Amino acid sequence: MHSIEHYRNEFISYLGSKTETKEPVNLYEPITYILGLGGKRLRPVLVLMATEIFGTDYKKALDAALAIEVFHNFSLVHDDIMDDAPLRRGKETVHEKWDINTGILSGDAMLIKAYQLFENYGGDTFRDLAKLFSKTAIEVCEGQQYDVDFETRDDVTQAEYLKMIEYKTAVLVAAALKMGAIVANASLEDQNGIYEFGKNLGIAFQLQDDYLDAFGDPKTFGKQVGGDIIENKKTILYLMALKLGSIEQQSELLDLYSIQPQDPKDKVKAIKDVFIATGSAKQTKLEIQHFTQKAFKVLDHLKISEDKKVLLRKFGESLMQRSV
Ligand code: IPE
Ligand code: IPE
Ligand code: MG
Ligand code: MG
Ligand code: MG
Repeated sequence: MHSIEHYRNEFISYLGSKTETKEPVNLYEPITYILGLGGKRLRPVLVLMATEIFGTDYKKALDAALAIEVFHNFSLVHDDIMDDAPLRRGKETVHEKWDINTGILSGDAMLIKAYQLFENYGGDTFRDLAKLFSKTAIEVCEGQQYDVDFETRDDVTQAEYLKMIEYKTAVLVAAALKMGAIVANASLEDQNGIYEFGKNLGIAFQLQDDYLDAFGDPKTFGKQVGGDIIENKKTILYLMALKLGSIEQQSELLDLYSIQPQDPKDKVKAIKDVFIATGSAKQTKLEIQHFTQKAFKVLDHLKISEDKKVLLRKFGESLMQRSV
């Protein structure tokens, strides 16, 4: 096994060797742009780590890792259009820098590119990777649609929210780990075990993303702080505030979520105050810990050596501590 940093660096240099801006430039330049903006590279690192955890050289998994990262970036380009987001990784989003049509088509090309990368595998590995990828990609679309549908609903339950984030975010984290297991030819039991670990970690990850969207530091977060509030997203912070708040706090929140001011600064501030006053911000932190611990419990039952579990736990803990 190598360090997390080693897998990240190896992935970044592989990515660099595989990206080129060819003709038509207006299709490929946005792809090079978004893939070059960085990001944490969590999902490809998980693919490579899982491959080695199950006893195979990570180099065999580089194309699967690249497919996952290209797919992730495709989903971000389209997500930023859907969320009307101006900033991504501290820079202009693709549809801001170019336009919406460019974002749509360059995104489509990335989705296809991701599929194409599985052609570098043969036989059962190709079949299993492609099957998992298709299932995951359609679930991400379902999750994204729920996310948008929830913007205009005021009766979203916590259970519905959890299903939504499982689909839009957690299944891809889970699939990244399972792909590593597939490349390594691990048993079905191991494949499913590592998938379950990833799913719970992915839920914790999206809860943290919701938290940071409101309470992250604008200097380091890289996205527009308060973006979810501006878009009336029914995040964990919102649902918890409605659950924990007094009647007055509940109606204040509902009122604030029903207005669309030209300058959203005051609305964002008032809603963040409600998130804090109701105890929702604190409770959200506890939920993040809960799902991380749940992931670690799944890990306890996996038949892999303790040093490998240590590495996966370290990865999970670093996600909880992140500010980006
Ligand atoms: C952002 O994912 C989208 C979510 C699922 C929350 P990341 O936070 O992994 O984005 P990058 O790739 O590091 O920028
Ligand atoms: C994004 O969720 C999930 C996908 C891109 C599929 P968010 O909309 O919360 O992600 P960010 O916050 O824009 O990165
Ligand atoms: Mg978004
Ligand atoms: Mg979104
Ligand atoms: Mg978000």
